[in-house]
Amino acid sequence: MPPVSRRPPVVAAATLASVFALAGCGGGGGTEPSAVPTAAATPTPGPPWNEVTPLRDASASAGRLVGAAVYSSGLATDATYAGAAGRHFDYLTAEWEMKWDPVQKTQGVFDFAGADAIVAFAEARGAQVKGHALLWHGATPKWVESLSPPELRIAVEDHIRTVAGRYRRRVRAWDVVNEAIDDGTYGLRSTVFSRGLGDDYVAVAFRLARRADPDAELIYNDYGGEGLNRKSDAIYALVKGLKERGVPIDGVGLQMHVNAASYPSAADVAANIRRLADLGLQVNISEMDVQVRNVPGDAAAKLARQRQVYREVVAACLTVPRCEAVTLWGFTDAHSWIDSFFGADDPLVFDEQYRAKPAFYGMQDVFLGR
Ligand code: G3I
Repeated sequence: MPPVSRRPPVVAAATLASVFALAGCGGGGGTEPSAVPTAAATPTPGPPWNEVTPLRDASASAGRLVGAAVYSSGLATDATYAGAAGRHFDYLTAEWEMKWDPVQKTQGVFDFAGADAIVAFAEARGAQVKGHALLWHGATPKWVESLSPPELRIAVEDHIRTVAGRYRRRVRAWDVVNEAIDDGTYGLRSTVFSRGLGDDYVAVAFRLARRADPDAELIYNDYGGEGLNRKSDAIYALVKGLKERGVPIDGVGLQMHVNAASYPSAADVAANIRRLADLGLQVNISEMDVQVRNVPGDAAAKLARQRQVYREVVAACLTVPRCEAVTLWGFTDAHSWIDSFFGADDPLVFDEQYRAKPAFYGMQDVFLGR
């Protein structure tokens, strides 16, 4: 069952529609927000998802992948959701269905139905898949918490071998370990894995993943370390240490869950991406969404700022060849974790009616070099 989606009342939709006229997304990209229209201006909503050039074509012209987190029931039952996902994205991440909790809720009992459906959907549309995530304290079933250290080591080995082995040659990459850095100490977060396996569990996980799938790109994924700050320094130190020890790590995912009211500077994001790439690592913008509810000004100002953030982040990625992909965490405001976690917002590039927002053109323009 996907996170609760939010449909705005008609008035809100009309308000947003009139805003699209302001943000210059009626004709197609490259225009800055136009002057505030008179009250008589007829609102012009953005074009629907199936009438705008595929974003994946724009990203491909820049030699990049553009992705989205998706959920299998939407792909199976919602033709608009599935159509937009297939048209615009060539790199799909399972928002939920490849995590430990849904895949092995009960020890030894695996449920791959959702994950298989997402992989099949991607393969049928020439899209690639990123597995997410082999070890994450945020989606680990309760039974794992009750294991002794030796039992945990066996369970981790079994889980990674079974899951990564199943999708060998069918996924491009895996988020092997997710969010292992603590936000307060900037050391290793205390989780069931660090407590049970010791601080070396990150290296253990990457070695197990490499054994299970020798061809997949193995990624460390985290949030809050997109620009230059203590967390990104800690992430850099972690992955640098892993590389220096010969641990099979290939990339870093910078989640980019940001707020348009205060977000990392493009220069800092570019510098952070570059220093990671200089280690020989691929870099992904891995879970981007841009909250706008607390941006000052009217709806037009919020959407214009959001467009700028998407534009700046993609531009920062394009400055570094090893920044191979930009993945959004969802793609329509009709389905975002933000609504249930932070409160109603419109963080993505298609609105609730799957119409292209100014943010869509912000990304497209940069991919096309505009
Ligand atoms: O599918 C089940 C359903 O069968 C069950 O009845 C229901 C009641 O518990 O839960 C449903 O699963 C929910 C799942 O989303 C699918 O909707 C889980 O409870 C819920 O915890 C899960 O939330 C996801 C969250 O990660 C935790 O896994 C969010 O959708 C997802 O957007 C969020 O994504 C994370 C990334 O993986 C890591 N980075 C942060 C990001 C945001 O938290």
